[in-house]
Amino acid sequence: MIEPGATIGILGGGQLGRMTALAAASLGYRAHVFCPEPDSPGKQVTPHATTADYDDRDALRRFAATVDVVTFEFENVPADTAEILAALKPVRPAPAILRIAQDRLREKDFLRSIAVPTAAYRGVTGVESLRDALRDIGPKGVLKTVRGGYDGKGQAMLDRASDLAAAWRSIAADTAILEGFVDFACEISVITARGVDGTTACYVPVENRHCHHILDTTTAPAPIAPALACRAEEIARTVAERLDLVGLLAVETFVTGGGEVLVNELAPRPHNSGHWTIDACRTSQFEQLVRAICGLPLGSPERHSNAVMTNLIGDDVDKWRDALAEPDTKLHLYGKRHARPGRKMGHVTRLLPLS
Ligand SMILES: Nc1ncnc2c1ncn2[C@@H]1O[C@H](COP(=O)(O)OP(=O)(O)O)[C@@H](O)[C@H]1O
Ligand SMILES: [Mg+2]
Repeated sequence: MIEPGATIGILGGGQLGRMTALAAASLGYRAHVFCPEPDSPGKQVTPHATTADYDDRDALRRFAATVDVVTFEFENVPADTAEILAALKPVRPAPAILRIAQDRLREKDFLRSIAVPTAAYRGVTGVESLRDALRDIGPKGVLKTVRGGYDGKGQAMLDRASDLAAAWRSIAADTAILEGFVDFACEISVITARGVDGTTACYVPVENRHCHHILDTTTAPAPIAPALACRAEEIARTVAERLDLVGLLAVETFVTGGGEVLVNELAPRPHNSGHWTIDACRTSQFEQLVRAICGLPLGSPERHSNAVMTNLIGDDVDKWRDALAEPDTKLHLYGKRHARPGRKMGHVTRLLPLS
């Protein structure tokens, strides 16, 4: 067990790292944030910080010497970085999990290998193979970069009339993935924690609505049939177990009109669709991550309120005053100086009576 007083190393300094550091502090831990950006949301809340590139081995060694356990707040941290650190200190979740989650093709292959359903997909290596793949799994598909995409970046929606050569050029990589377009009824996600001893704790499935491919609102609980909620939770638990995860796992899914739950993507870290847990659950996703990676007993994921979380994206942040005027609404701002379009600046959580 890594007891309170110890230092948690966090790779990545965005809002997820910030909220993890705050939760760590509540339990008496220190957080050391490592990222290349000097003035990041994470570094604003802890004096322990390293500003260096993820491939700076000397900086990584020095960082490892100051921490007791390492975690990451986004899956685009190079897996090699996690491997280097894992030789020195426990890295949770393990680097092998990062390798799967940061590559959409590997992720889908893994899900297929454990019989978890996804959209149809094909690896694509050029215009010809894209044409073949679309013929196989079309008529509509979504072409995605295998690595580095987020908030809908690195994606193109395709149908038979699309200019495939232009779509392929827009991906600008040697390999991509074509997924069959899923005409979903709704998108839901499930966040589960798994401890060092293999116990799991699952938050209630939530519904996510996106605007311009960026998460706009999360409704907790998702208004879906209990059987579907159970199915989604079972999938999340199975994936966490088969990954031998220690930490948090968010599973994004599509629910079809026919009642199928198809996994879209995995995130082995805190997730935007879990921000509501800060204000509406006994244990927030961030505290749960700290508990899991430090070998503490997991907390109760039960909710004491229903909630609707809305992201403040770009200029939405100017609405912060309105949020403060609402007695049932909690405001969270991330300390980012510039409100660029599409940038997540904060979120608000409206609490509602339990249903
Ligand atoms: N195969 C698909 N069929 C239909 N919609 C999709 C598909 N893939 C992605 N989308 C839409 O695009 C959003 C972002 O895609 P996702 O794969 O989750 O990438 P990101 O890493 O950007 O979150 C999804 O939440 C969903 O709304
Ligand atoms: Mg997504």
